[in-house]
Amino acid sequence: WTQETLSVVVVGASGDLARKKIYPALFALYVEDMLPENFSVYGYARSKMSDEEFRDYIGGSLTCRVTDEDSCGDKYDTFLERCYYQPGQYSDESDFKALSERMTGTEKDRKKANRIFYLSIPPSIFTAVAGCASKAASSPSGWTRVIVEKPFGKDSESFAQLERELSNFLTEDQMYRIDHYLGKELIENLTVLRFANLVFEPLWSRNYIRNVQVIFSEDFGTEGRGGYFDQYGIIRDVIQNHLLQIVSLFAMEAPVSLDAEHIRNEKVKVLHCMKQLTLDDVVVGQYRGRQGKGHSYPGYLDDDTVPPGSLCPTFAAVALFINNARWDGVPFLLKAGKALANRRTEIRVQFRNVPGNLFSDRLSLNGMDLDRSTNELVMRIQPNEAIYLKINNKIPGLGMKLDTTKLDLTYKQRYNVHLPDAYERLILDVVNGDKRLFIRNDELDAAWALFTPILKEIESKKVQPELYPYGSRGPVGSHYLASKYGVRWGDIL
Ligand code: BG6
Repeated sequence: WTQETLSVVVVGASGDLARKKIYPALFALYVEDMLPENFSVYGYARSKMSDEEFRDYIGGSLTCRVTDEDSCGDKYDTFLERCYYQPGQYSDESDFKALSERMTGTEKDRKKANRIFYLSIPPSIFTAVAGCASKAASSPSGWTRVIVEKPFGKDSESFAQLERELSNFLTEDQMYRIDHYLGKELIENLTVLRFANLVFEPLWSRNYIRNVQVIFSEDFGTEGRGGYFDQYGIIRDVIQNHLLQIVSLFAMEAPVSLDAEHIRNEKVKVLHCMKQLTLDDVVVGQYRGRQGKGHSYPGYLDDDTVPPGSLCPTFAAVALFINNARWDGVPFLLKAGKALANRRTEIRVQFRNVPGNLFSDRLSLNGMDLDRSTNELVMRIQPNEAIYLKINNKIPGLGMKLDTTKLDLTYKQRYNVHLPDAYERLILDVVNGDKRLFIRNDELDAAWALFTPILKEIESKKVQPELYPYGSRGPVGSHYLASKYGVRWGDIL
C-alpha cells in the first residue's frame, strides 16, 4: 500500500445515497484501517461548495458503527481532512480534467495512483460521466474502477443499450455493478451454509425441499420517492435484482471454486434454467391509504409525485420454476411489497413431509396432503439477522406431546459484533478488486430476459393492481397464488 494512493470520487456528491450510505461506509472502513494510508475522497457535483462546506455536509452523517466512540472521535477529523469537493458539470470533459489535476495533488510522489469513481447519479447520465471520467480523469499510473448501481435499464433493450454505451468507455473488468443485497451478511453466508456444512447440501434439491420463499416486506411506503418509483415499480425495484440474486445464489450448483468468475458462471446457468413467466405466475398490488389511531397513512396515489391513476405495483408475488434436475417442480415463491405490516426480508425453505411419519398431523391444501409442522429453515436477512431451523420436538414431561420449535442462531445473541453495512463490504471489495459480489453483464441480461416479457404484458394489458391497505399483509391474491402450488406463506403461519 505505501507506494499506492487511492482516490474515491463520489459523482453525485450531494445525493441521498451518498450521504446515507457511501460516506458512512468509507468512514467505517477508514476507522477500521481497511483503506490505504494515502486515501482521499473527492465529492463531485454541479452545485458550488467549498471543501469546508462539503465536510460540514457529510460530517453530520458519519455514524460510528465500529469500536468505541473515542477512537472514532479521533478519526472523525482526520477523515474529514481527506475529503475534498470539486464542482463540475456531468458532461464536461474539462471539468473532469480539473478534477483529475486536483487529484494529482494528493497522489504525488506515489508510484501507483488508483482511482474509484462511484456513480451515485441517475442512469440517464451514466454514459456521459463514464465517458468524461475515462477520457479526462482516469488514473495515469494505477487502476481506474467505476461503481454503478441500479437501475440498469428498464428492460432487455434499454439494458443492452446502456451496456453498449458504457462499453465504449469502460471494460467489463473496470465496471463494478452493485446489488447491495449481495453485500448483506446473511446473503454472503448463503454459500457458506450450503457448501461448508454436510447437513444442508444433501437436502438442497427437489427430493427434500417442497418450496422456497423469498419475502421482502417494508413497513413504509414510497414516501418522497414516488416520482422515481413510479417509473419502475416493485418488480424492477426489488424483485428482478435483489430477490432474483438471492434465488440464483440459493439455487446454483456448486461453483468450481470461490473465484468470482466461477460463482457468476453458476448463477448465470441457473438463471438460464428459469421457466418463462406468464400472467398466471404473478400477482400485483398497490397500497391504499388507511386511517389509523390518530394517524392517517397515505395511499400510493396520495403521493404528489405519483401520476394520478397510476397502475404501478407497489407489491408483487411471483411463482418461479427452475427447469433443471435439481429443482424441477419446486415452486420458488417471491413476494415483495411496500407499506406492509412489518419490515422483514427472509428466505424460507419448507421441507417435504417425513415419509411414513409416526407423529404426523396432516392438513389438506388444494388437494395436497401436508404435514402441519414440516421442517422449515429460515434465514432472516434483516432485521435481527438469524438462521433458524424449525424442528419437531417432544415437550418434556410425561406423555407424548409434540412442539414445533427452533434451533436458533440469532446473530445478536451468538456474535457480539455490529454487522457491517452492505456498502462497507462492497466498497472494500472494489478496493481489493474482488468481484464475487458484483453482477456480471450476462447475469443482468438473463435477469432481464426473464422479467421483460411479463413486465411488458402487465403494462400493455394495464393489469389492475389489487389494492391493499397500508400496513396490511398485502393482497389476498398472493395467498391464492401460493395455494395453487400447495404452499402457505411461511411468514403468516
Ligand atoms: C433499494 C430499493 O434497492 O432497496 C428500495 O430501491 C428499497 O425501494 C431498498 O427500499 C431496500 O434496501 P434495504 O437495504 O433497506 O433492505
